Formats: sequence, structure tokens, C-alpha cells
Amino acid sequence: MFVSTMPGLREAALVLVFLAICCKAVNSRPFWCPTDTANSSGYCLSWRLAVEANNIRAWRTVPTQCSRHIEAYMIAGQYQRDLNLIVGSICSYVDTITLSDDGFDAWILDVDDTCISNLFYYRGKRYGCEPFDPLGFRAWALQGECAAIPDVLRLFNKLVETGFKVFLVTGRDEETLGQATIQNLENQGFLGYQRLILRSGAYKGVSAITYKSEIRKQLVEEGYRIWGNVGDQWSDVQGDYAGNRTFKLPNPMYFIP
Ligand SMILES: *[C@@H]1O[C@H](CO)[C@@H](O)[C@H](O)[C@H]1NC(C)=O
Ligand SMILES: *[C@@H]1O[C@H](CO)[C@@H](O)[C@H](O)[C@H]1NC(C)=O
Repeated sequence: MFVSTMPGLREAALVLVFLAICCKAVNSRPFWCPTDTANSSGYCLSWRLAVEANNIRAWRTVPTQCSRHIEAYMIAGQYQRDLNLIVGSICSYVDTITLSDDGFDAWILDVDDTCISNLFYYRGKRYGCEPFDPLGFRAWALQGECAAIPDVLRLFNKLVETGFKVFLVTGRDEETLGQATIQNLENQGFLGYQRLILRSGAYKGVSAITYKSEIRKQLVEEGYRIWGNVGDQWSDVQGDYAGNRTFKLPNPMYFIP
């Protein structure tokens, strides 16, 4: 047995040494040399991290090779775990705030993929591999069937019960989607918010950052103190009067400038 094993071990060691040498010589790497860059799941993980950290911006579509990765992320549990952890962190922050009794302690929540989910719609768009389709999205939103995101609904209820004035601020067009959005929020249990603010004609064509900054400025001028601001887009939480604390929820399916 000893005799027959030794040569096997020596051969294995030689192969390992050979592999190590060949893998260092990057330019001459043979096709069979193990390489991490060939792992598309690893690439997609890097892509998603870069997107969430705002290191990749103004991207139009999810890389085609990542549609399965994004699907798995969104529906197999990790997205929900991420939301659960973030909302836990937001609730801890909420618990540190002492509200005044003047009724001007405010909180801002985005609507799409913050309060209510478009996951069902994006499933039909290969989780963002297909470019944004304004007409398709409008038709979907008009149905008023976006499901509540449970952890955010829990946060919403906590904020309302604690006494915050909750403002829902969305880039959805007021004229065409106002009614459907009001009904959708109601049928998903978002009751007791202070105001739902949709994009009026005055803000048509204005970037989300500018529009949302302007809305927050008006609230601050009305006397509100914005303690927190939560959205799935960087454009929700950047710009002026962003709030004392901002929280970015994950969304690897689309980017709104
Ligand atoms: C590909 O990368 C993912 C994420 O880093 C990892 O979990 C998986 O094991 C890798 N697969 C292979 C075949 O290396
Ligand atoms: C909240 O932000 C406002 C405006 O930036 C600032 O004046 C205030 O001190 C902040 N409050 C706390 C508790 O950080």
C-alpha cells in the first residue's frame, strides 16, 4: 500500500505545482487552468455590490449573463434577508429619537420597490435585463396590484404609531397614476400617512434627484424635521435636505437617475 500510494502523491503534488506556476503566468494561461473570472455568479455578485455601493451608475440594464443571479437574489431569500437586516437597523435608529410634541417630526419613504414591490412586473422583464419600458410599466402600475414589502410595511406602521408624519414621495406621474397609487397603497395596508406626493406637471422631465430635493425643501420650509429617508434608489437619498439619516434599500433591477 505504501509503495503504491507514494507515486500517486508525488504526481498530485507535481500537478499542483504546475497549476500554481501556470496560473501565475496570466498571459499564457491555458484554457484548462482554473480561473475565477470564468465564474459568472462571482462576476454578478461583484456587479451587484458595485451597483448597491453606487460605484456603477446610470446603468440601463442588468448584464444579460446576470439574469439568473438577480432572479435568485430577488426570490430565493437573500433580498428579503437584506431588507430584514436594514429595516432592523432603521428601527434601532427610530428608537433613539425623542419626538417633539409640535407634530413636525417627519419621515420620508419612497414608494416603488420601497413600500410596494414591482418584482412581479420585473420578472417579465428578465429582472432588469430588458430596458425600461415606460408604457409597460404604466400599464402595470395602473392595475394597482403591487404587493407590500412586508418589512417596510412593518417600519411604516411603527413610524405612524410612534407619531412621525410619514410622507410618501414618488416619481410616479400624478395625473396618470395618482388614483391607482392611492388605491394600491390602501389595499396593501399603508394607512395613516401624512401625504402622498407624486410628480406633478411642474416637475415633468426633471431628474429624480432634483425633483425629490425640491419636495423635501418645501417640507423643511413648512417646518418639518426630516429624521429619516428611505428609498431603493440613490436618487431617493442624495441631493438637498436628504434627512438626518438615509437608508438605501437594495434594488439590482433598475436605476433611476
Ligand atoms: C462561483 O462564485 C460563487 C460566488 O462567489 C461561489 O459561491 C461558487 O462556489 C463559485 N462556483 C465555482 C464553480 O467556482
Ligand atoms: C438633523 O439635521 C438637521 C439639519 O441638518 C440638524 O440641524 C440637526 O442638528 C440634526 N439633528 C440631529 C439630532 O442630528
